[in-house]
Amino acid sequence: MRRILSQTALMLPIIALAGCGEEPVEMPYGTAQQFMANEVQPTAEIYWGAVGAVSELVDGEAVFTEFEPETDEEWAKVSAAAVKLREFGEVLASPAYADGRGDDWLQFAQGLQDVATQAEEAALAKDPEAVFEVGGTVYAVCTACHQMYPPAELPEGETVDTVQTDANRPNTDETLEEYMEGSGE
Ligand code: HEC
Repeated sequence: MRRILSQTALMLPIIALAGCGEEPVEMPYGTAQQFMANEVQPTAEIYWGAVGAVSELVDGEAVFTEFEPETDEEWAKVSAAAVKLREFGEVLASPAYADGRGDDWLQFAQGLQDVATQAEEAALAKDPEAVFEVGGTVYAVCTACHQMYPPAELPEGETVDTVQTDANRPNTDETLEEYMEGSGE
């Protein structure tokens, strides 16, 4: 018995060494969780926050005011966010984040790249309706991946469907007009 124990003890350092010799996997943005929380989410929020409506009480009545980017500079920030989302889709498809996941992971990562391209086109066209609608599709792509690869820990009160967005936006297949009508209810 003692002998077996000491052999085991001898083997441990070898195993530990083998662990050290592995190629370090480069994760440019940290873990998937950090990448999502620090990069993907804030960038998507820039896009989602670009077009929408705010309600204000005027003489006791809710009045909805649509907002959209006004200046070239503001529009440029929206298209830049879309470009970043496409890059993030590429990062997600890289081995650092894709290794050990199923084939569907690569499809979701590709889906993000594709929708980000549409998102950029909408911003370059300075088309608020299109930005709003593509924003809904972006959201659907995020959610599709999260349904298969759910976040390990969700903030309290959040579900997979609500975690990555504010409460009133985006609804995946709504037009800006429908959204405005909906918020008037
Ligand atoms: C290819 C798959 C994939 C896509 C696409 C994807 N995510 Fe994620 N996301 C993940 C995974 C995996 C996690 C869970 C990470 C963990 O908890 O280990 C996650 C977690 C998150 C979280 C929770 C982070 C936290 O603090 O725990 C947020 C927020 C998030 N994603 C936002 C987004 C947004 C916004 C998009 C779309 C623009 C998106 N994700 C697209 C895979 C994806």
